[in-house]
Amino acid sequence: MTTRPWAWAAASVVTLAVALGPLVGSGAHAEERLVPAAAEPEEAGRQLFVTGCSSCHGLDGRGTDRGPTLENSGAASAYYYLSTGRMPLADDTQPTRKEPSYSAEEIDQLTAYVASLGDGPPLPEVDPSHGDLATGGVLYRANCAGCHSAAGVGGALSYGGYAPSISKSEPEQIAAAVRVGPGEMPVFGPEAFDDEELESLVRYVRFLQDAPTPGGGRLGGAGAIPEGFVGWLFGMAGCIAATVWIGAKRAGRGTA
Ligand code: HEC
Ligand code: HEC
Repeated sequence: MTTRPWAWAAASVVTLAVALGPLVGSGAHAEERLVPAAAEPEEAGRQLFVTGCSSCHGLDGRGTDRGPTLENSGAASAYYYLSTGRMPLADDTQPTRKEPSYSAEEIDQLTAYVASLGDGPPLPEVDPSHGDLATGGVLYRANCAGCHSAAGVGGALSYGGYAPSISKSEPEQIAAAVRVGPGEMPVFGPEAFDDEELESLVRYVRFLQDAPTPGGGRLGGAGAIPEGFVGWLFGMAGCIAATVWIGAKRAGRGTA
C-alpha cells in the first residue's frame, strides 16, 4: 500500500483545527463577555432585580405586600437565598432549596445590588480547614441539632415549617445561614460565635456530610432511636418467619 502525503496533510490540518477550535472559540467568548462585565456589578444586579425580583420586593427593594424589604438583608442574606435557589420564590410556602435560577456571575451582581440597599451582614469568608472539628461538634450539638437533627437530615418545626437537610450546603451557604438566620432559624451573630468558631462549625457540618457509617447503611441518618426501631422490626419479622417455618415443618411431619 502506498502512503498518500496529501491524506496525512489533510488529517493533520483537521486534527489541528479540532485541537485549537475550543481555544479560538473561548477567546471570542471572553471578548463578548467583557462588555457586560465591565459595567458596575451593582448596576447589572439592579437590572436583573427589576426584571426578576421587583414584583415582590418593589422597584427599589423596599418591599411590597408580597415580599419584605431587603434594605438591611445584606450580601449574606442575598447570597444565601440566591445560591440555594430559594429566590425567586415560586409560591407562598417556605422557600425550598433547588437549582439556582441565576449563574454564579449574576448571583454576585444581584448580591452586590442588595448589599448596596443598606447595611446588612456581609458574606462571611470561611476556610473550614482552619476550624477545629471537636469544637464544631460541641457547638453544633448545642445550637443546631435540635432543629437539623444530630446527623443533619433536618426535621419538622412548629406551624408546619421544617428545618431543611444540610447535606448539600456549601461552606459559604452554611456560614451565611448562621449569620442571617433565614425564616424560623435564629440569627447567630459574631457575639454568639466569633469567626473562628464559625469556621469550626462549618467544618463540622462538612464532616457530617460525608461521615463514615461503620455500623452499615445509614437508613436516612435519622438517628439512633428510629434506626434501632427499623432494626427491631426486621429482627421481629425474621423471628416470626422462622417460627412459622419451623411450625409448618413440624405440622407436616405430624401428618405424614
Ligand atoms: C413571588 C415573590 C418573590 C419574588 C419574585 C422574589 N422574592 Fe425574595 N422573598 C419573598 C418572600 C415572601 C420572602 C420572605 C421569605 C421567608 O423568609 O419565608 C423573601 C425573602 C427574600 C430575602 C430575605 C429577606 C430577609 O429577611 O433578609 C432576600 C434576600 C430575597 N428575598 C431576595 C430576592 C431576590 C434577589 C429576588 C430576585 C431574584 C427575589 N427575592 C424574588 C418573595 C419573593
Ligand atoms: C429553630 C430551628 C433552627 C435552628 C436552631 C438552626 N436552624 Fe438552620 N435552618 C432552620 C430553618 C427553618 C432553615 C430554612 C430557612 C429558610 O430558608 O426558609 C434553616 C436553614 C439552614 C441552612 C441552609 C440549608 C440549605 O438549604 O443549604 C443551613 C446550612 C443551616 N440552617 C445551618 C444551621 C446551623 C449550623 C445551625 C446552628 C448554629 C442552625 N442551622 C440552627 C432552622 C434552624
